[in-house]
Amino acid sequence: MKKDFIDITDFSKEELLGFLDLATELKKEHFAGGNQPVLKGKNLAMIFQKPSLRTRVSFEVAMRHLGGDALYLSPNEIGLGQRESVADVARVLSGMVEGIMARVFGHELVVGLAEWASVPVINGLSDASHPAQILADFMTIKEKFGSFDGLNLAYIGDGNNVSVSLMQMSAILGTNFIIASPEGYDMEDRFVNESKAIAEKTGSKLSFFRDPHEAVKEATVIYTDTWVSMGQEEEAAKRKAVFPPYQVNEKLVSEAQPDAIVLHCLPAYRGIEITDEVCDGPQSWMFPQAHNRLHAQKAILYTLMKD
Ligand code: CP
Ligand code: NVA
Repeated sequence: MKKDFIDITDFSKEELLGFLDLATELKKEHFAGGNQPVLKGKNLAMIFQKPSLRTRVSFEVAMRHLGGDALYLSPNEIGLGQRESVADVARVLSGMVEGIMARVFGHELVVGLAEWASVPVINGLSDASHPAQILADFMTIKEKFGSFDGLNLAYIGDGNNVSVSLMQMSAILGTNFIIASPEGYDMEDRFVNESKAIAEKTGSKLSFFRDPHEAVKEATVIYTDTWVSMGQEEEAAKRKAVFPPYQVNEKLVSEAQPDAIVLHCLPAYRGIEITDEVCDGPQSWMFPQAHNRLHAQKAILYTLMKD
């Protein structure tokens, strides 16, 4: 049966750790002379309803490193669910390519592609989640700290797609997850309740704050993301009036554990949700984190598309 990569919660702890181990192996192999062409002759169709730098480049280059190829389908091209139904797009592509990666607005679009496609479908970000990003994030955390035991990941800002996937991964792996977000910008209850139920079994502690200073006290990882996600541009002025107390700046970082690292999925709006000093400072791991997208996405492609 074909496998998809839609949400972190579709996988067990062992499977998620397996992706991370494979990503590390593929990274070593790449730097030791190059990856084996295990996806030779295979193509990945990449559907984008929204812009991208990291997701597009990492998946495309990952396919090439593994001996395959990728096609970029821009927001103007397919008209997913408008020019053509999700079901028809999925069935047409399934006869031409061996995998589909999609960056969409509504989460139901990527779920629908997975339902109708006979080839693997990968979520390259939806309004609800960003699981491919989160593999690279935890790969980076492992490179810094060696394990996930006793780590406190504090996410500061908007309760968005990235924070949902981070919370889910933390709950499954047993990492403590802390979030500080302003009232009205919390993650949806359905995600929080689902992760709380998982965390009860794994021993992960989930904490919810309004005050970012409270949230970072025990933090070993500080994470932030834009206050205005793609598709929320009309709310930009309103959000920019609410979020300033949640800026990740040198003062806030100084209140965390001394060996804490700072992560951001990028793109960063410097001077808004995070300052230049933090982005370019000694505790920033944002560029290794971005580079790890290549290796982490390779692990997804290898797992889903290799015969
Ligand atoms: N972090 C991330 O997904 O970046 P892009 O939007 O540039 O792909
Ligand atoms: N939350 C952001 C992540 C960008 C990678 C967005 O959805 O725009």
